[in-house]
Amino acid sequence: MIITIDGPAAAGKGTLALALSKHYHLAYFDTGMIYRAVGLEMVLKGYIPEDEEQALKIAQNMTFERMMSLSTHPDFRSDIGGQAASKVSAISSVRQALLKMQQDFSLNPVFADGTKANGAIYDGRDTGTVVCPNADLKFFVTASLEVRAQRRFREFQAKSIKTSYQKVLEDMMTRDKRDSERAAAPLKPAPDAIVVDTSDMDEQTEIQTVINLIEERLKKNHTKNH
Ligand code: C5P
Repeated sequence: MIITIDGPAAAGKGTLALALSKHYHLAYFDTGMIYRAVGLEMVLKGYIPEDEEQALKIAQNMTFERMMSLSTHPDFRSDIGGQAASKVSAISSVRQALLKMQQDFSLNPVFADGTKANGAIYDGRDTGTVVCPNADLKFFVTASLEVRAQRRFREFQAKSIKTSYQKVLEDMMTRDKRDSERAAAPLKPAPDAIVVDTSDMDEQTEIQTVINLIEERLKKNHTKNH
């Protein structure tokens, strides 16, 4: 079973994807990590993220191991990493270079320890539209800008990352705009995605709501096939 979860930053995709991967015993692919890895590598090498030639080179040479190593850098999850990821991810050739690696995972999904899984949960922006257009189930998880900025601000505070709510809100607005207005795979729900607005939901309500939707869909498919 392949499930895709797309949506804007801090909408609740990561928490949901992790909970679903545990509940249904599916591998989890956080596709934002590869764009963050390419973006951060650009920053660390002193290139501007918009430099297509360098970004493409880095994307073509990106490996799972390098991505995991970059993920321990303090700026991997900070706004610096987020903005750099958003900029490199707007470059078509970079997206193309990173597509196969993402699609291959659905053919051979594995858990973090390398053991085989019977399917995968994808978390990203275009996983239901571009990466896995034939996924069994697609969700588009969203929430109001203010709620998402509040969540991200609290996450940063918990990690002792120095910032202000206003800065987080502004960065999120810039990233949302870039992600949804770019020509290459703009952020939008797949036509067959179920849209879930988590603005008024806590984590447990969000997870239970989506599990109920999955169960309903699985029951429907079972009835259709018998
Ligand atoms: O999900 P996360 O915030 O880690 O993603 C970082 C950035 O990577 C996003 O703002 C977006 O620009 C880009 N991204 C993307 N396509 C994906 C996942 C992430 O363009 N499938």
